[in-house]
Amino acid sequence: MKGTITRCAKELVESQFGPEQWQAILEDAQVDEETRYRLAYPTTDIDDSMATEILRSTGTVLGLTPEQVADAFGEHWCCVYAPKIYSSIIAKFNSAKEMILGMDRIHVQMTATIRNARPPRFDYQWKDERTLIVTYKSFRGMVDIYRGLVLGVGKLFNEPLRARKLDNTQVEIVFG
Ligand code: HEM
Repeated sequence: MKGTITRCAKELVESQFGPEQWQAILEDAQVDEETRYRLAYPTTDIDDSMATEILRSTGTVLGLTPEQVADAFGEHWCCVYAPKIYSSIIAKFNSAKEMILGMDRIHVQMTATIRNARPPRFDYQWKDERTLIVTYKSFRGMVDIYRGLVLGVGKLFNEPLRARKLDNTQVEIVFG
């Protein structure tokens, strides 16, 4: 997976919990020296199992559940990290709904020219006018992170929305 994910996690932990906690997470996840150096570069390749292990260790070291880690990650990505690094992409959207519905296209487009990227894909199905069922398609199984990011999009636009994991591939989002 691309280093942009681990870079965001590093930034989140260092700014909210302190650099020593990030070091403790790297120890717990047994991250080697070379990967420690590389994981702050957005387009570098970080082994998928290593990236997953770092997120797991984040919960262990900070005493958070996987859902709490995902929610903190999603909020930091959407409200702090992406507005700095990907402001031109964020500027394309005027509402949480637009941004969530635009994410399948954005992931395909923005990773098209990045070697080794295998972005998640999303299918959208409206259950009623406020309720969207998203099918999350990725071999990485990071549906909790997906849900956290959806909540982060709501915070970014300051819009009330709820997101509930239905199973490992589906999330129900209720707008308004
Ligand atoms: C400015 C906005 C965004 C950009 C530029 C972006 C870009 C990326 C990139 C480059 C990756 C790594 C892909 C790879 O290594 O193959 C990724 C992963 C991911 N993105 Fe985004 N993303 C954005 C916002 C979002 C949002 C808002 C969501 C959900 C609502 C989302 C869901 C995910 C998930 C779940 C992953 C983890 C990888 C996986 O599940 O396979 N992203 N994104």
